[in-house]
Amino acid sequence: MRTGMAESWWMHSAGATSYPALEADLDVEVAVIGGGIAGLATAWELTEAGSRVVVLEAGRIAAGVTGHTTAKLSALHTRIYSRVRESFGPRFARWYAESQLQAVERVADVTARLGIDADFERVPAYTWTETPDGVAEFRAEAEAAAEAGLPASFVSTTGLPFAVAGAVRVENQAQFHPRKYLLALAEDLSRRGGRIFERTRVTGLNEGHPCTITTEGGHTVRARHVVVATHYPVFDRALLFTRLEARRELVVAAPIEADRDPGGIYLTPESNTRSVRTAPYRDGQRLLIVTGEHFTPGTGDVAQHWERLEGWTRERFPGTEIAFRWAAQDNTTTDGVPFVGPFHPGTDNVHVATGFGGWGMSSGIMAGRLLAALIAGDEPPWAGLYDPRRLSLARETGPLLKLQAKVAGHFVGDRLRPAGTESVDDIAAGTGAVVRVDGEHRAVYRDPAGDLHAVSARCTHLSCLVRFNEAETAWECPCHGSRFTVDGAVLQGPANRPLPPLT
Ligand SMILES: Cc1cc2nc3c(=O)[nH]c(=O)nc-3n(C[C@H](O)[C@H](O)[C@H](O)COP(=O)(O)OP(=O)(O)OC[C@H]3O[C@@H](n4cnc5c(N)ncnc54)[C@H](O)[C@@H]3O)c2cc1C
Ligand code: FES
Repeated sequence: MRTGMAESWWMHSAGATSYPALEADLDVEVAVIGGGIAGLATAWELTEAGSRVVVLEAGRIAAGVTGHTTAKLSALHTRIYSRVRESFGPRFARWYAESQLQAVERVADVTARLGIDADFERVPAYTWTETPDGVAEFRAEAEAAAEAGLPASFVSTTGLPFAVAGAVRVENQAQFHPRKYLLALAEDLSRRGGRIFERTRVTGLNEGHPCTITTEGGHTVRARHVVVATHYPVFDRALLFTRLEARRELVVAAPIEADRDPGGIYLTPESNTRSVRTAPYRDGQRLLIVTGEHFTPGTGDVAQHWERLEGWTRERFPGTEIAFRWAAQDNTTTDGVPFVGPFHPGTDNVHVATGFGGWGMSSGIMAGRLLAALIAGDEPPWAGLYDPRRLSLARETGPLLKLQAKVAGHFVGDRLRPAGTESVDDIAAGTGAVVRVDGEHRAVYRDPAGDLHAVSARCTHLSCLVRFNEAETAWECPCHGSRFTVDGAVLQGPANRPLPPLT
């Protein structure tokens, strides 16, 4: 049985926001669409540089993926340095390290300068392996990371309460409370003339000089520059979605005595990924935060994933009682490096930040600095590494073909398969299923009171069929990860329109 409150610790332990919705037309220098870490960091950097900025957020700021992350702030990203060195070259690996380390230091500096209490703590970062066969690969990663300029070494012991076969260790990384940090940045940028609008979904973007943005509420914003920071990009003229893969992950958090704190931020790609960190908690305790069990949204048995993650946490940290649990998803590019820069080859004033691959804390901050520099007409040396217009067939053909085969499999295969159930009468209370009526796929949910909620099962992104995630009571699209409530409202893109209601 799943235990603990179904809420992210970051949402639970930082205040709610109440910025107004956009109620009038505006003219601005820069419009940032999306108020997660990437959007807020960009808006803050631009305000710092003296630009007039507006942030347009569909829901509440720092409450999307950023409000449901685990917030390890580190330049050690699993085994990225071997990969970048091999596929881009050693110079690019150095730029990756430099840009990500600068992002960690940026949070340290801004926290100190603005006096933000965001539970910022310096800790070493580890990527560990428990299989002796994995040691050579991890040793190679430690060498690649050190060569790229990180204070990295290969170690055989860690602060974890179980033995490892080996680990990459990087000194002087950090962990923090992402919402406390970003809500303080938002306040600071508002104080300095930046404007934030919540409950303001952007539904149209007309590119030009200036660009014209339209919102669901019917207002327009004219902007010289636009930053699309909506996580999975909306208005994707470059078809970046074909080079992005969504991956959902689960998180559990449990109080532990302070003397059991493993003293670091940890991750292993083994066992379907496990990540471990702690955060300050009540009465001198620490909150142990364990993440893992990734899966493609809309696929697999999510309840089983929860059981496995909770089981692992109790086995490795005996006596823990789960206090909080939550889930979220990030997207990864086909070459493993984020897309940050001009949105497509035909633009000089529409920018994007996405594809953080589970490392959007440092990459979101890096994106803010990079986009602010590009908009100011500067080009840091590593701009090319992150430029979304890069496309190397040598690097990306294999992963691209695999990803597209998977999407095509869902698009075609899901239509050919028998519907989830033959009749709405078979749908038990609290569950949902896709039912075919007169040749049309309907996504039908029966609520605990027995009432039916029916919406079209065709995802409003590109028409793949959604599936029900019973553990989280949501419709999910297996093609690119769009998520919807049982009444069809968009929870997460790339879809930007609700599933139409049906009888
Ligand atoms: C379980 C989990 C654990 C993670 N742990 C770590 C970690 O330890 N360290 C790390 O570095 N990274 C981690 N990550 C990755 C990191 O959390 C993400 O990469 C990052 O939060 C993404 O930020 P974002 O700003 O791109 O997206 P979001 O925070 O989702 O922000 C996008 C915003 O855009 C808004 N939006 C969408 N469409 C529109 C529209 N049409 N109009 C207006 N607004 C719109 C959304 O409402 C949302 O608020 C983790 C990810 C997951 C899933
Ligand atoms: S998310 Fe792309 S088709 Fe549904």
